[in-house]
Amino acid sequence: MITNQNFGEIPQSYLFSEVAERVRRFEAQHPEARVLRLGIGDVTRPLAPAVVDALHAAVDEQAVAASFQGYGPEAGYAFLREAIAAGEYAAIGVDVSPDEIFIGDGSKSDSANIQELFADTARVAVTDPVYPVYVDSNAMAGRLGTFDGERWSELTYLRCDDTNEYRPALPAEPVELVYLCSPNNPTGTTMSREDLTAWVAYAREAGAVILFDVAYRAFITGDDVPRSIYEIEGADEVAIEFGSFSKTAGFTGLRCSWTVVPQKLRRDGVSLNALWLRRQSTKFNGTPYIVQRAASATYSATGREQVRADVDYYLANARLIRSTLESAGVAAVGGEHSPYVWFRCPGGMDSWEFFDVLLAEAQIVGTPGVGFGPAGAGHFRLSAFNTSEATQEAAGRLAALLPRLAA
Ligand code: MLT
Repeated sequence: MITNQNFGEIPQSYLFSEVAERVRRFEAQHPEARVLRLGIGDVTRPLAPAVVDALHAAVDEQAVAASFQGYGPEAGYAFLREAIAAGEYAAIGVDVSPDEIFIGDGSKSDSANIQELFADTARVAVTDPVYPVYVDSNAMAGRLGTFDGERWSELTYLRCDDTNEYRPALPAEPVELVYLCSPNNPTGTTMSREDLTAWVAYAREAGAVILFDVAYRAFITGDDVPRSIYEIEGADEVAIEFGSFSKTAGFTGLRCSWTVVPQKLRRDGVSLNALWLRRQSTKFNGTPYIVQRAASATYSATGREQVRADVDYYLANARLIRSTLESAGVAAVGGEHSPYVWFRCPGGMDSWEFFDVLLAEAQIVGTPGVGFGPAGAGHFRLSAFNTSEATQEAAGRLAALLPRLAA
């Protein structure tokens, strides 16, 4: 055998590819339908003017020999690493130095690739439901055992639902890697300072590494919810953090992210910062110069204001989705510090059943909760990334449909 047999174990298609395929089939059969997309978290606002100006200026630089840039530094240009250290960390009183920040082409790839730093035998825990990339990337590496159609035999699932207020319990069995995400994808819930403090204490005690995804941190409003795990004392010895410009600044197409690997984070006497640099410099030639220039423009005074306005726009959509559900008697979480709203499917339907009903009867696309893990069964996620007009129209259609389904 010459192929990676681990691929034989994973579900045949990636969750969002399966959703897209079902929508394609529906649209082919119903060409007249005006389908509203509240499924995958893809942005609809155009790039902020400050970002577009930076892109144009960077393209012009590439046209002139004196300012032309070829291969960039593998870990990213200093101007962006410094801007992130100042704008994302110093700004919240956290000390992260530019040489701990690695520029990537998206948190999806960074959070999928990070597992390469760890042993094949490293035991993994994820919250359940969870962003499927963490699970599938470890499954491809052969770390999760066998899949019975619902669960992986060697994966620790930390259930999060309304019975535990979406707060994952510390693992009951020994694990070495723990993926956490706050604001959470898919549930839209957040981890409190107290919860994170307990997780950091756990990781320190157990020698575990926390892989903390803050791709949605720009959606946090107010000061109560931590924006970085490094707000917690001692986290720089136990945690790697992933941040992204995708949802914050509309970079889902441009692609730019960062990963923080603290200098103090060592395991088996080895620096994980050095391992990640080694991995990246072998397998990655860097995010394009013009994209890094565009990302750094989000930290100028004007850029900051413009991207904030876009995040606020999506948050208004999220509030509307949540209040529409609640007015129809469907209890929901998320949508406050997050672009995602999560709820149990009305009338006790299962996730795909509700997906089909919503598409057929209201021409709305959402994401079936079961695609995010066994605890997502019977749940559903709606995203706030469509336009305000489409979201209002979706709210009207939901308000008409939901009472009928719950009855
Ligand atoms: C989602 O809808 O969960 C996200 O768009 C997926 C991603 O960021 O890769």
